[in-house]
Amino acid sequence: MDKKVHELLNQQINKELYSAYLYLDFSNYFEAAGLDGFANWYMIQAQEERDHAILFYTYLQNENMPVTLDAIAKPDQVFTCNMDVLKAGLEHEKYVTSLINDIYGAAYDVRDFRTMQFLDWFVKEQGEEETNANDLISKMELFGSDPKSLYMLNQELAGRVYNPPSLVL
Ligand code: FEO
Repeated sequence: MDKKVHELLNQQINKELYSAYLYLDFSNYFEAAGLDGFANWYMIQAQEERDHAILFYTYLQNENMPVTLDAIAKPDQVFTCNMDVLKAGLEHEKYVTSLINDIYGAAYDVRDFRTMQFLDWFVKEQGEEETNANDLISKMELFGSDPKSLYMLNQELAGRVYNPPSLVL
């Protein structure tokens, strides 16, 4: 495998684990705010991110490439309102999309078609994650200022269940 592609794939394990840690922090914020549905939504998001990390790890293992695990950064944003958390989530997903695109670009440059095929699932997944983050912001804009509506939105998010990723390596 190309050195740069390997490096970026290895780094992505850390980035996905950081994403899991970040969403756990978001879940923690909403738990403290008494919005258990929102907390559930981000807890499941954290589980999905952990899965993403394992997929990058497994891909490198399958390719017989060494894996180096790095320290996971501290989620250090302090939020003063619910909407700020949702917006930080969207910004984070846009950032992750740019990381996936960077790896894809590096693989494309060296005609690493297997890595490109592996990343195809993540390209689609990032589209869905950005849509979900956007939808959440729209709903909060519409309903967040009315306590009864916020209660119902919280109930809706409480219903989100964990689904393992459709990509199996
Ligand atoms: Fe693993 Fe939300 O990107």
